[in-house]
Amino acid sequence: MSTSPMQELAGALRNHGLVRFYEHFAARFADVHLKELTLTAVGRRRAMTTSGRELVNFGFDSFLGLDQHPRVKKAVMRGVRKWGTQFGASRAFASAAVNVEAEEKIACWLGTEAAVLFPSVTLANVGALPGLVTSQDVLVLDQFAHNSMQEGAKIAKANSVRIATFAHNDPADLERVLQSLQPYRCAVLAIDGVYSMSGAVARMVELNEVAKRHHAVLFIDDAHATGVIGEQGRGTVLQALGSYDNTLVVGCLSKACSVFGAFVGCTREMRQLIKMCSSTYIFGGPVPPPYLEGVCEVIDLLQSDEYPKLRGQLDRNIARMAAGLNRLGLVVLGGETPIMTVLIGDEETALRAGKFVFERGYYIQSVTFPAVPYHQGVLRIQINANHRPAAIDGLLSALAELQQTMPLPRIEHTRVKVNFGSDMLAVA
Ligand SMILES: Cc1ncc(COP(=O)(O)O)c(C=O)c1O
Repeated sequence: MSTSPMQELAGALRNHGLVRFYEHFAARFADVHLKELTLTAVGRRRAMTTSGRELVNFGFDSFLGLDQHPRVKKAVMRGVRKWGTQFGASRAFASAAVNVEAEEKIACWLGTEAAVLFPSVTLANVGALPGLVTSQDVLVLDQFAHNSMQEGAKIAKANSVRIATFAHNDPADLERVLQSLQPYRCAVLAIDGVYSMSGAVARMVELNEVAKRHHAVLFIDDAHATGVIGEQGRGTVLQALGSYDNTLVVGCLSKACSVFGAFVGCTREMRQLIKMCSSTYIFGGPVPPPYLEGVCEVIDLLQSDEYPKLRGQLDRNIARMAAGLNRLGLVVLGGETPIMTVLIGDEETALRAGKFVFERGYYIQSVTFPAVPYHQGVLRIQINANHRPAAIDGLLSALAELQQTMPLPRIEHTRVKVNFGSDMLAVA
């Protein structure tokens, strides 16, 4: 019997290396992988219910707890009443007034001349980034730049742009790569402000110095810094460089800000050009207006007296978790941001470690290859402002118990070169 085209297609996909890996992984670790959780409820203080059990959620990136903030919820509901659920046209044709208002508020808060909104960081990175360069230009990425910028680079490559990568967070290697690419007309350098798997912060000052020497502009995906790093949560760029002179910065409105969308902070001139050159801006729909009302509210909150209180709670929670992990002697990557990554090792141990903690009432993410290098699986802990101190202590106790049941890498024994770059550290 002949197979249908759809069966042929499915068969071909089954042969794809990554699909084979995922299917093998799902079958082998069916009882522990925790990759298909369905939450039936979320509650106060980061409670989550799944399969009838309530746990404390340390796996989501609502770092400021704004997803449950009454002012933000109210703004979104006000937006539904005012605008309905969606706008229904690409912004290439028309924009809701609240879209323009949100962009003006973001630019004013961030300290850039202008901002342009996208429905997500992914859509900014696969639309705006390749739109910036043509065949006479080069696009250079940190080897661990977020997947969405790597995908954007593939589009640029298909448009005959030369693409290169440099060793993670390594200015000397960037220098070498930019030199080797000469001559070019323009160069764009794509990095993360905070690396989401390790929590490492970009060495932005040094990277920008190299970029400027080689006539390159920095394109920074600051998704994990928006709202939680820098004054009023403006992110890594202003904090590190003191200005946006040589940068295009992409911020996220869905993580710490807990609403929806992303922005590119830039000059007025670049705003106009990005709108014309980004396929996802022209051919895609906008952020739904109710969420834009929420964005305006969140930007007001970041500039209000309440923000230092939220940041204070978050920073105290980060410090409590960091001190506890340090006492346990675990190998921790990051530590300056709400993402704390504990090195575990091989894939199976990382998954079993996550399940062990889950069974004790805490959800954290086990992250394994291909999201991190092979055999360098981690537990990724995400701290929120609205975690109770008692929940942090409870998670630390569960990790201490875990250490008794499986040997975990310890900081004093670890001379492994953790291949996330140079940012392995014990947090104080
Ligand atoms: C660095 C980075 N960029 C982009 C994204 C995706 O953001 P969005 O959900 O807005 O597309 C993530 C997601 O976690 C991320 O870590």
